[in-house]
Parts: sequence; C-alpha cells; structure tokens
Amino acid sequence: REIHRLDYRPPTFWVDSVALEFDLGEEGTVVTARLSLRRNDEVAEGPLELDGEELETLSVAVDGRVLGQGEYTIEGERLTIPDLPARCELETKVRIHPESNTQLSGLYLSSGNFCTQCEAEGFRRITWFLDRPDVMATYTVAIRADKQRYPVLLSNGNRVGERDLGDGRHEVRWEDPFVKPSYLFALVAGQLASHAGDFTTVSGRTVRCEIWVEAHNLDKCDHALRSLQAAMRWDEEQFGREYDLDLYMIVAVDDFNMGAMENKGLNIFNSKFVLARPDTATDDDYEGVEGVVAHEYFHNWTGNRVTCRDWFQLTLKEGLTVFRDQRFSADMGSEPVKRIEDVAMLRLRQYAEDAGPMAHPIRPESYISMDNFYTATVYEKGSEVIRMVDTLLGRDGFRRGMDLYFERHDGQAVTCDDFRAAMADANGRDLAQFERWYTQAGTPRLVATGRFDAAAGTYSLTLRQECPTGQREEDFRALHMPIRMGLIGPDGADQPLGFEGEAAAGAPTERVLELTEREQTFVFAGLTAEPVPSLARGLSAPVLLELEEDEQRLAFRLAHDSDAFNRWDAGQRLFGAAILAGAAALARGDEFQVSKGLVEAFRAVVTDPSLDGSMRSLAMALPSELELAQRMEIVDPDALHRARRAVRRALAEGTRTELAALWERAKPSGAYSNDRASIDRRREANVALAYLSCLESPEWTAAVAAHFDGADNMTDSQAALATLCQLDVPDRQRALEAFYAKWKGDPLVLDKWFTLQATSVLPGAPTRVAALAHHPDFTWRNPNRVRSVVGAFAMANHSGFHSADGSGYTLVADAVIELQGANPQLASRLAGSFNHYKRYDQHRQQAMRGALERIAAVDGLSKDVYEIVHRALA
Ligand code: ARG
Ligand code: ZN
Repeated sequence: REIHRLDYRPPTFWVDSVALEFDLGEEGTVVTARLSLRRNDEVAEGPLELDGEELETLSVAVDGRVLGQGEYTIEGERLTIPDLPARCELETKVRIHPESNTQLSGLYLSSGNFCTQCEAEGFRRITWFLDRPDVMATYTVAIRADKQRYPVLLSNGNRVGERDLGDGRHEVRWEDPFVKPSYLFALVAGQLASHAGDFTTVSGRTVRCEIWVEAHNLDKCDHALRSLQAAMRWDEEQFGREYDLDLYMIVAVDDFNMGAMENKGLNIFNSKFVLARPDTATDDDYEGVEGVVAHEYFHNWTGNRVTCRDWFQLTLKEGLTVFRDQRFSADMGSEPVKRIEDVAMLRLRQYAEDAGPMAHPIRPESYISMDNFYTATVYEKGSEVIRMVDTLLGRDGFRRGMDLYFERHDGQAVTCDDFRAAMADANGRDLAQFERWYTQAGTPRLVATGRFDAAAGTYSLTLRQECPTGQREEDFRALHMPIRMGLIGPDGADQPLGFEGEAAAGAPTERVLELTEREQTFVFAGLTAEPVPSLARGLSAPVLLELEEDEQRLAFRLAHDSDAFNRWDAGQRLFGAAILAGAAALARGDEFQVSKGLVEAFRAVVTDPSLDGSMRSLAMALPSELELAQRMEIVDPDALHRARRAVRRALAEGTRTELAALWERAKPSGAYSNDRASIDRRREANVALAYLSCLESPEWTAAVAAHFDGADNMTDSQAALATLCQLDVPDRQRALEAFYAKWKGDPLVLDKWFTLQATSVLPGAPTRVAALAHHPDFTWRNPNRVRSVVGAFAMANHSGFHSADGSGYTLVADAVIELQGANPQLASRLAGSFNHYKRYDQHRQQAMRGALERIAAVDGLSKDVYEIVHRALA
C-alpha cells in the first residue's frame, strides 16, 4: 500500500502522557501501556485507530474496565475502538518477542542485551500506539528484569527510582519531562559499563555524559565523549542551543541497521560510530565518530524539540541536522577538506540516486516503506538545500531564521514549509520559488557559456538551467539557486567583478549570483584580458555544472583557482576526462596515451608546497569507477577499469621521483600522534605509496609490506593492507593472515579485513567474495558484517560486481533473497545495487534484470524490498 504526502490527516485523538511497563524476559516480554487520550477537537469524529505489528494482545481496558470482544477490533496491523469518551485512559497489555526479532526494528537483542530502534515505525512493534510523529506525549517507563543478567536498565530522560523486586528481579523507573513522538522512545537493558564525563552548559548547569559499552570496550570511548562535549559547546556558540536534561547517554550496540539514533537523552549507536582507539580505528573512523556523535546531539534541537509532522517532512530534521554536523566538522578540522569529502559523497551517491529509479524530491510525494526513504537525497541533498538558504541569507540571517524557527515551534511537530517561513520572515525575504527544491526531483544541469569582448573589456556569462536527466521537461521549473563565482585573470588572481555600468574599482573578487530564471546573462566590465571563470565555488548549488574547458584550462584552474574546492574539482574534471577518453579508446580497440600535460598537472599537485597533506591526498585521488560510470553513455566496466588503471600507472611512472620524495618526507617517523599535522602526513604518505605500488616493482612492494609490518596505528595498517590487497604478490596473503590473527576478536576491525578483500579488483572477485560469505566469522545476522562483504562488493568494487559472467549479480541477488525475510531494511539497501542496470550494455542489463526478477518472484517478499525492486523494474 502506497502512502501519499497529500493524504495527511490529523489524528482523531492526541496522547498527552504514556506510562509504559516492561517485564523483560528471555522468552517473551510483556509490555503494559497506559495512554491518556484526548479527542482532537479539530476532527469531529472517527474511531481511535492504533498501530501494532507482531503483537500478541493480552488485554485492552478503558478507564479501568476490560473491553469485551465486540468493543474493539484487531485487523492486521490496526486496533480500532469505535466509541470512546473525549478523555480517557486506555490500557493495553501485549506480549512481544525481542529474542526472535531479527529485523532490528522495535525491541530486540544485540550481544545478549536488549535495545530498541523505533524510527521510523518501530514503536508499533513494541505496543499499540498512534505511531506517527505528530502525536507527542510525555513518557514514564518502568523496566523490570533479572538483576544478574540485566543490571543496567536505561530509558529516556531522568532516572527517578529503583527497587529490588525480591525474586531476583529489579525495577528501574525513568521519566522524560519533554513531550516527544514515539519514534524517539528508547530502552536498553543488559550488562554494560559506562565511560562518563561532565559538561557545564553556558548557563552553568552540569550535564552528566555517559558512553555505555560492553566492559571490554571501555578504553575505546574517550573520543566519543570528547566529541559529544565539543558538539554541546559548538551548538551553544553557533546557535545558542543548550542541552535540556541533566543526563545524556550514548549506548553502543553491535547489531544496528543504520549509523545511530537520536532518542531523547538516550542515543543508541552502531558501535562503529562510538568505539575508537588508535590501533583499531583509522583517522577517517575518528572523523566518522565525531560527525555522527555531533549529528545525533544536534537532533536534540533539530528533530526532538522541534520534530516532523509526518514522515514526508523527514528532511526537515535530517537535511538540517546534516548541514549542522557538516559545519561542526568543518570547524573542528579543515573546512575545504570537509567540503570536498561531502561533495564527493554527494556526487557518488546522491547524484546517482537522482538519475535512477529511486529519484525523489527531498520531500517525497509517496512511499510504500518509509525506511526506504532514509536516502542520500533526503539527507545529503537536503543538507545542500539548507546550505543554499545559508548562502542566500548569510550566516547572520540564517541564525536569525533558526532563532525564529525555535521560538515559533519548540515542542511542535511541523513541516518543511514552516521552516522556510521562519527563514523568510526573520529576514524579510521571499523564499516562495525556493520551495521548488522540495518538489522537483533530479539533479538540474547548469550549462554555462562565457564570451569575452576584448574591445569593450566585458565578459558575458550565460547560465542556463536544464531539466535533470530522467525527469520530464514539462515538470521542470526554474529553481532559485545561488552561484558563487569568480573570474581568474591570466596571472592566476581573481579579478574585480564590476557589473557593466558600475565602477569596477573596489568591486568584490567573488560574488554570489542569484539565479531565478531558466536563463540569465551577467555582464562583467573593466577586464583587460580574457578571464577563466570559476563557477559554483564550494558547489554552492547541487547542480551538474557543464562548462567547456580544455585540458589546459583545467590545469590552470587546478594550479590557480583561489577556491580550494574548485581547485580540487578542476583536477577531478581533468583526470576524469582523461580516463573517460581512455575508456572510449579502449572500447573501440584503440591504444591511448596519457598526455604530457596531465602528468605535469599531477606533478604540480604532488609537489605544491602550499597544499596540506589532506588536500594533496584528495587532489591526487582519481575519480572512482563508480563515479565515472555515471558519465558514460553505455557503461563498459572493463574498459573503464583498464583505462583508470592505465592512467594511474602512467601518472605514477611519470612522477616516480616526486612520489618517492613525498613518501620519504611524509612516511611514519616517531610514535603515532593524532594531531592535525600527523593526520595530514599519514594521508599524503599513504596515497603516495599507493601510487608507487602501481609500478609493481619489487622495491615498492617491499616498501608497502614493510609499512604494514611497522604500522603502530590502524590508519597505516589499513592503508598498507588495502594496497597489498590490490597486488598479486605473496605479501598479500601473508599480511591478510597476520591481520586476521591479530584482530579476529574485534568485530569492527574484522569488518575492515572482510571489506579490503571484498573490494580487491584482482581477477576472480565474485569467487573470493562468495568464499568470504562462507568464512566462519561471516554471519547474515550482523548488518555491519553483511555490509562489509556484500555491501562493499556491490557498492565499491565496480569491476568485480559487474563481472561479465554475471556471477557478481547472482551473489548479491542471493544475499537479498537470503536476508529479505529476516532483515528487510538491510536487504532492501542491497537490492538497490541493481538500480542502474539500464545504463549498462545489453548483456549485463539482461543479467541484472534477471537478478531483479528472481528477487521479485520470491514468495511473501517484504514491502521494503518489493518497493525497490518494482521501482527498478518499472
Ligand atoms: N534518525 C537517524 C539519524 O539520522 C536515522 C534513523 C534511521 N532509521 C531507519 N529506520 N531508517 O541519525
Ligand atoms: Zn539524523
């Protein structure tokens, strides 16, 4: 059944308060729920309709009287009570089975501990409820369980009581004073220990911060705790938002479908985004922890205090919170590095989504399973849309808008329109046209052309918005977009941007052009030589910029663009064009040569003293096969792979002296340290060594092996092993065995071991991956493990997944079929691997289509997988 955004109706009843009691058991858990109900005055009549899934209903009572069979009905996942007083107390008692809940939605067990995941619609798997985000209530929770096995009992808010029940069981009571929707409910019970610290808020209150983990992981919590404290401070400083409870808890669990969850006062996290120690987590993992901890913390205001009216508004909290966490991470580290990483991910995942069968606006119009709409579009493009508001209004204007948003809507469940209205009203701006970013799907193309008139000294820049690929021309209407830009002079310096008819003197060297029409021309005057345009700096709008630039011009911008992001982007365009030209040549059966200019441009990056190590490593990285595939008319995975490899090798050969010098300068010396400069050095050292390994010389293979053996931290260890995994050398097997022997007891590190093998492009990838799925440490029950093998193979091993014999497709389809009943959410993510089958050659298209049809034919297919597969086949 498909749900439509425009079908939203307010509920017939509100729930003012909820009292929950849990009797946790090894074989069944009993949940008692008492709801204070109040009829919604705005809805004249209608029965009470509650949601429930896989509940065994033991009793239903109203105001203390048990209802008889005829007084309510249960049909499928709905409990209906036709006649109820305008105010009453409803008590239900149900039995549920967390011990056999493999979906990891609702109440379930992970490593023997109870935990919950309720967003989006998991609370209905715990008790009968109006399980929709516009129903906000206060909660009290009593948890009862065996004292030995479950000494720690946690829920949202403040701990208000504990008692021994005498029979080996105990009870802990929790109270959350803030109203919240059911998706923010959380419960944890088990054997856990906490690493704790304090945070003093700006108004002087002390907040206790606790990171709960299995005791043996206590030495991996400090980074998460510090990240939380930093995020708390940052939200006070940047947005004036203070934490509102006296306790903030984060619990790490191993079995989790997503990254983490912002439950009020009790976040539950995939342990991947909590646990970090230098020998087990890479520099990137550390950044991941910091970013996700901050993201969930920022939800306390953008998501929890102000939440979504319905799930179509998801980007209201997710786009905004991603924008906030991106800004936070930029402030903690390097702004351009963070921006480049985020845009690279956006282009890889979100632009691809926009171009395929799952294309949807950031505020979708319909869904079958809401869980399928926790997408790159809602999150990452949603954040880009917020970023454009920030660009249009300026930092101060954006802050004024946020203040008004909180002032108006604290404690409410609202819509994306409410957010836009607050931003507009606080700044006296009209954002009506801006709404189209919320209604139109797809990545708009922005076609730029420039014309220099030497006699007049003017440069005319024409920007034209084109309908996104895959969308209908008649549906496309001009978007309101900010284009940050500059014009670079022959000396490499940005020129003053005086508009025609204005004085050029004193004009800014960078401007934000506001586009509101399909086509607009901007004329700049006072120029003495033809400038090189640098457009959409920092990717100021989520568009595909099409501007004709030859190799020379791109190399010029790679060397001179004053915008660090656009410098990197120029390099990506330059290298990407070379690889694509190479792939086209190879596909025709022609030879191809890497140009001298390309090698020189690369050499300039390797040696540029002004670049820090992180920027250098990003600038040296070639666009991935997956990203380049998006730009091929008909994707030829083999030609693409061979071309990229050839370019890589040619660059390495052409600059081996400089690469060796870079490695010598940046390679590990002295003990590990996690300061910025050391992180930068590790990055450039590892990327240099990876290039040198392409030379396939015994000397450099030995250097990689030695780097692996000598590593005293996971960043170097993983980087060296990743490089070895792409080489057909004896050291590869030896290193894999050593790594396994050392880390087989640490699931997160073992995930890396699986992933590095699943993403190796050595011949026979599907066979190797199939073998990994039969390894004794492989399990279908742990989402991280499944993703580390099947997910990594399908999403990050382009040539392997698209092996010509179709064995990669068979393997992934088998995995989807294996998982779809037990864990529909995880299965449906994997099913998305086939979304782009129409872009490949006939032979592969047929094979992928066959895989999709095989999945579609499964009896009793879960709705999550059904939706993905049927959209793809349509
Ligand atoms: N709100 C969570 C976050 O963004 C994600 C929850 C996703 N849940 C789901 N069932 N897809 O941090
Ligand atoms: Zn979120």
